[in-house]
Amino acid sequence: MCATAPLLSSYIDRFLISRQQSIGLSPRLHSGSTMSLQAIKYIRGDLQILDQLKLPHESIYVDIKSSEDGYVAILNMVVRGAPAIAIVAALSLAVELESKKQELSGYTVQATQEYIESALDYLNASRPTAVNLSDAVTKLKAAVAEGVAREGSSSRSIIDLYQSRAESMLEQDVADNKNIGRFGAEWLSGSVAGKEKVTVLTHCNTGSLATAGYGTALGIIRSLWSSGSLLHAFCTETRPYNQGSRLTAYELVHEQIPATLITDSMAAATIQLKNVDAVIVGADRVVANGDTANKIGTYQLAILAKYHGVKFVVAAPTTSIDMKTAHGKDIHVEQRAWHEVVKISGPKVDAVESNRLALDLKHAYTVSTAAHGIDVFNPSFDVTPAELIDAIVTEKGVAVKDAKGHFSLEALFATLN
Ligand code: MRU
Repeated sequence: MCATAPLLSSYIDRFLISRQQSIGLSPRLHSGSTMSLQAIKYIRGDLQILDQLKLPHESIYVDIKSSEDGYVAILNMVVRGAPAIAIVAALSLAVELESKKQELSGYTVQATQEYIESALDYLNASRPTAVNLSDAVTKLKAAVAEGVAREGSSSRSIIDLYQSRAESMLEQDVADNKNIGRFGAEWLSGSVAGKEKVTVLTHCNTGSLATAGYGTALGIIRSLWSSGSLLHAFCTETRPYNQGSRLTAYELVHEQIPATLITDSMAAATIQLKNVDAVIVGADRVVANGDTANKIGTYQLAILAKYHGVKFVVAAPTTSIDMKTAHGKDIHVEQRAWHEVVKISGPKVDAVESNRLALDLKHAYTVSTAAHGIDVFNPSFDVTPAELIDAIVTEKGVAVKDAKGHFSLEALFATLN
């Protein structure tokens, strides 16, 4: 028997309370409005996203006015991270519909439905591995179909319905992440015996920048820190896109959480020498048996964690769980362009000072980091077998394995639906 059910039941009341508290938010929605870092700024008709290619050196918001803008921003990783991708895709169509309300008012409800569905299919093709995007697309299509079936529906009412469903995804993600943070911190505090404070290692960026706010794996680290249960966090650089050194390090410095950056190749030595108690990562897709696709490099961390006897924890909302896929081998892993591996970009370094670099922010360079002509393999994600995972922390509770070593993730969907 999986421990999901007992663990879940103890969290149900708290989950319901926090869900009730999230109802009645102001119509001017802001991702993580109480957070210090805001990846997505939205009010109806106006979507801006923080350009994550420019971070950590510049904070520039770009306007997303259409589903095409959303598609391009996701494809080029101006916004990235499984939950953020899904929310930006949904909201990019919401702003497009707002700007075309007049034009679409001449459409029949069926034509409006077709317009929305074809835009959603287009957005869904932007990045394939994170299941949050296709989950959002399925839910939005179902909402629209429901609206079409309602008596007296019009193009206007379908658009309003679409927009309010897309907007509620933004609100819900922050609430879910706070629950993930709390459940994960509680589980870790109870699972690492004999320690008041834990040392953790994380990979990629799973924080406010990858979500609507607070974060998943980084949400657990935030929660551990705010409850006084975190000794230290290590974050990996996360080559080739450097989500760790650019984004996670930025969030950790911003929040003043005690943290150290390591290159990916330092993970084994860090776990061995720095008393790491747990590796905490996010997920792009957790399939029915618990196998988990996440940023390339996650699998090797899971092997290291097993060898060193430290906990390996996956943190993800249930929107990242794909119960239709049985095994990790069936996950479509996105392959990215070869040139991402052989170059790096950033502002010019004028001088190395005692504890910082003096930067010339007016001059950004892209430099080559590899031998000309070398072949390149650039999978964006890898799949960690469930066997190596100790816990999957969701907004509904913590799933752990039964005595036979199996996760029963369906229990997460059987509750609270
Ligand atoms: O390629 P990215 O930056 O979109 O990959 C992000 C990750 O792998 C994250 O760990 C995952 O999406 C979870 S974000 C809460």
